[in-house]
Amino acid sequence: MDLTRPKHGADVWTYDVALVDYSCNLNPLGPPKEIINIIQKNIDNVIRYPDDACTSLKLTLSDYHNIPREQIIVGCGSTELIKAFAETFVNLNDHILTPVPTYGEYAFYCQFMGGIIDKTPLKEDEEFFLNIEDLFDLIDRSTKAIFLCNPNNPTSRFESKSKILEVVEECEARKVLVFVDEAFIDFLREGRNGSCVPEVESHDNLFVSRSLTKIFSIPGIRVGYGVGGKELARYMDKTRLSWNVGVLDQFIATELVRNCDSYLERTVEFVELEKRYLYEQVSRINGYEPFKPDANFMLIKVKNLGLNSADFKKTMLERGFLIRDCSSFGEEFSNYIRIAVKNRDLNNNLLKAFKTVSEEKSSSNKSELETTEKISGTGLEN
Ligand SMILES: Cc1ncc(COP(=O)(O)O)c(C=O)c1O
Repeated sequence: MDLTRPKHGADVWTYDVALVDYSCNLNPLGPPKEIINIIQKNIDNVIRYPDDACTSLKLTLSDYHNIPREQIIVGCGSTELIKAFAETFVNLNDHILTPVPTYGEYAFYCQFMGGIIDKTPLKEDEEFFLNIEDLFDLIDRSTKAIFLCNPNNPTSRFESKSKILEVVEECEARKVLVFVDEAFIDFLREGRNGSCVPEVESHDNLFVSRSLTKIFSIPGIRVGYGVGGKELARYMDKTRLSWNVGVLDQFIATELVRNCDSYLERTVEFVELEKRYLYEQVSRINGYEPFKPDANFMLIKVKNLGLNSADFKKTMLERGFLIRDCSSFGEEFSNYIRIAVKNRDLNNNLLKAFKTVSEEKSSSNKSELETTEKISGTGLEN
């Protein structure tokens, strides 16, 4: 099978210099401090296998979301749930619908299971909002499932709950499953009310995945979870790896979810302010076209700098910043980059580097133009 693994940001292990990682969209407040105590308090438990049923964590999540525990499944990151969904439901030649651009893992695991990907473009002139008519036109009897990422990576666009539910209900009538990835939803003020988690009780075709990675800034601790219609959750729970969530990971996740209210509140306040600042400041620098972010990351077109995203990434690496080159989201995104929203000091340093690149590019473009003019003035070939 000629499938290449999906590309991600956050590849800091590739480089032997310290970089400020703007390619990974983590909580700018950093992980909650209690993590160290939780690890110290529970370290003796590493001599045991983890609880395969994740009992405490599921009870805590069940309380938190007010959803029966049987409808929750816990994974080694939400990535495991994407894989489990594909492994459980996608068969050879099933058609799967995904927007473009979106997170690459959905298509990868579905193709791995023999699925065929149908793509519905998110258009720049529609501010990358999902076009429901386009989507519905693509559904036919061979469509098995639709993946939606809300807010969407890399566009940072958030769709209202009513719009997502319109898709879920149409799909329910047409016997199509819907996977909604809410990995970034807690960063939005509308996140709590805009989540589709409560809807799994009344929509059997719906599965919603959630990640602890981004919101608690703990990519090194691998915990995600999903909630689904009763049958979906029951089938998927059979597919997952045994002991898929480590002992310490379960303790950490349980405590963090139990005590997250004020941390989430502070996060939302912080991100609301900083994403607006970053958007306004980047808009003022020549050559950059940022798209207004709903979440804690921002998509930017760098075409007018005269650089593609791979070259822009290289230039930023030389300045100590790792940014996400979006070309892996599709060839048409090879002039787009994605950056995280961080704290004011780091953001100001990034903005300075953006400005320098812009100035350097415009002076090199100017001197290239002067040389061309001189050459054409002499009648010489260039
Ligand atoms: C949209 C989206 N969903 C899911 C994930 C996977 O997150 P994790 O497996 O760490 O929960 C990512 C990671 O980048 C992501 O961007």
